[in-house]
Amino acid sequence: MPTVLVLDSGIGGLSVLDDMLALIPGLAVTYVADNAGFPYGTKTEMEVATRVCALLGRLSERLRPDLIVIACNTASTIALGHARAVLDVGIVGTVPAIKPAAERSRSRVIGVLGTQATVRQPYVDRLSAEFAADCTVLRHGSSRLVELAEAHLRGEPVSAADVAPELAGLLDQPGGDAMDTVVLACTHFPLLLDQLVAASPRRLAFVDGGAGIARRVRHLLGPCDGAALPGTALFTRASAQVDALAPALQRYGLTTIAIV
Ligand code: DGL
Repeated sequence: MPTVLVLDSGIGGLSVLDDMLALIPGLAVTYVADNAGFPYGTKTEMEVATRVCALLGRLSERLRPDLIVIACNTASTIALGHARAVLDVGIVGTVPAIKPAAERSRSRVIGVLGTQATVRQPYVDRLSAEFAADCTVLRHGSSRLVELAEAHLRGEPVSAADVAPELAGLLDQPGGDAMDTVVLACTHFPLLLDQLVAASPRRLAFVDGGAGIARRVRHLLGPCDGAALPGTALFTRASAQVDALAPALQRYGLTTIAIV
């Protein structure tokens, strides 16, 4: 069975893993949460690129995965090109789902909600110019939502009122009253979809790239039919917060937890 290494700074990549397992249930997964480097979204481009390439280099040499999925918009928009240049294994990245958002928006005003690092990337300019040239593209960077998603997966209560100020970061911008579609351009954010929907003052469509990544992985690996396999979650630093994540990790089939 082919093995896939899924990388994020924390538990955000679970939103991508969810789509992957729904499409490819027999996938053998090693999930890597670089919690020693968390969060990526407030770091410089240099810090993120150096860290991600070094970690992936070390882990791919040790684990020899058939494919790597960088399940993180921040790492992908900054370091996908660098990682592909230095690693001898296929890499699927996660980029803001601006194309599908532009395809479905009627009002032609879309929002991009990501980390601070992601929303300032030229990659986002390029996607907007290529796929949403006739749209107003609003952007908001939120590190708070990343923290809230982590807390939610640790079993701590997170409410619509907690996420509402982050959504307001888009809605309160000029043009925000016409926004009808929001790109969840950070893999942590789909984990708070219920809260985001509840916090929306009107019906908004939330779009993310998970399903597209799952299709790409299946295309690259070919059929991997079979029963679900137990997966492993690797963290880069031991902490009490890792222990608190165990029940959530189990829900994604990640039954073994280790520190690398
Ligand atoms: N999950 C990551 C992303 O998709 C980033 C979270 C962080 O700031 O570390 O951008």
